[in-house]
Amino acid sequence: MKTLVALVSGRGSNLQAILDASLPLRVSAVLSNDSQAQALARARAAGIPTAVIDHRNFSERMAFEHRLAEAIDCFAPDFIALAGFMRVLGDAFVQRYAGRMVNIHPSLLPAFPGLHTHRRALEAGVRIHGCTVHFVTPALDMGPIIVQSAVPVLPGDDEASLGARVLVEEHRIYPQALAWLATGRVALHADRVTYPHDRAEPALIAPALDAATPMARAQSGR
Ligand code: GRF
Repeated sequence: MKTLVALVSGRGSNLQAILDASLPLRVSAVLSNDSQAQALARARAAGIPTAVIDHRNFSERMAFEHRLAEAIDCFAPDFIALAGFMRVLGDAFVQRYAGRMVNIHPSLLPAFPGLHTHRRALEAGVRIHGCTVHFVTPALDMGPIIVQSAVPVLPGDDEASLGARVLVEEHRIYPQALAWLATGRVALHADRVTYPHDRAEPALIAPALDAATPMARAQSGR
């Protein structure tokens, strides 16, 4: 079975979704830059080895990343999943795991890379928001996209309500993307996402339309 190391910094709800999903891969370790991350407790509760490499103990980013890479390589994972990992990673680190490292981002990339995505989506007045799983490349939040899920921005939404709606989708698409990776149904070649079995996976997962809407009735022919 393929193996995965997850890198986390905080709450760990995406990690939990991955652990709960009975995927065709084994999470062999969870590593964090923050010893207080709730994600570490989730990993321990699931019996998964954890380690903390605190970036504050390193005066240079390169040294931190070198140590992090050593810790990852101890487990020789097939894949690395960033699951709310809040450190920007340098080019050498990213290249080392090219095609094997993925990230979940709470926006429909390439819109709203970086932080505070829900606030920025509300400020921009977009009507559709969502989340993206992508391969990690040196440009922050800009790697080739594996899967996205869209949600509506509803009247009266605030950052919290919109973020919660997006998070539900994150928990659907991250396990799905990892299952595709583990079974070779998506891969990265020359900076493009490919489908080695010649069968494109649905790259957009969106909630179904409300059955009562005229649009849904038209689509179903009723
Ligand atoms: C998620 O919104 C994820 O998209 C972003 O950081 C957040 C992490 O949440 N990269 P959690 O730690 O998985 O609960």
